[in-house]
Amino acid sequence: MVDHEKGDGGKAAGEDRKMKKRDLREPHHAVSAGIVPTSVQDIGPYYPKTAPTDRDGDLTMADGRSGAAQGQIVYLSGRVLDLEGKPVPNANVEVWQANAFGRYAHPDETNPAPLDPNFEGHGKGVSAIDGSYHFKTVKPAAYPAAVGVTRAPHIHFMVTAGTQRLITQMYFAGEALNETDPLLGAAESRESLIAKVTPASSDAEPGALVVTWDVVLP
Ligand SMILES: [Fe+2]
Repeated sequence: MVDHEKGDGGKAAGEDRKMKKRDLREPHHAVSAGIVPTSVQDIGPYYPKTAPTDRDGDLTMADGRSGAAQGQIVYLSGRVLDLEGKPVPNANVEVWQANAFGRYAHPDETNPAPLDPNFEGHGKGVSAIDGSYHFKTVKPAAYPAAVGVTRAPHIHFMVTAGTQRLITQMYFAGEALNETDPLLGAAESRESLIAKVTPASSDAEPGALVVTWDVVLP
């Protein structure tokens, strides 16, 4: 767009307007092609009853405690985007999840797996000017959800931007349980919910993962 405008200097006003009209339309189609809105998922029974006590984006260090959460460290980040692929800044990004044993710190939780007092399990952040969000957390374990049903490891998301709110769940690429998870299987776009997973650099905690997942608001 900027380059075209620079090159339009000698054109008649009519041609100039035509060119600008076309320029506005073409990038719109080009950017939108292939962009799939992130599918909606159930909020689930474990949406936290209380707000996170701190907003530092680090779920592995609980307020007032010196210990660190148990489990495999996950550096989780991505961008909040609109349907044209443009970043959405200032979106509220809220996450909640089971701990490394598959248990939520929630009064309605029925899984007898251990609680981890050093794990916060709930975080809130705001997307930056480039739409990016960042959390440090641990990988949630799979957990039993009903007789014969095991949920694949997942992190719940609620993303709010202006009047838009998306509630969904993010899954980790490469998990065998992704093939049988009933909620993931029922998603409108399964692919839109599966995050990229790579090993973290060697200076990170042993076994740490980098998990990357963009949220495309509808
Ligand atoms: Fe869940």
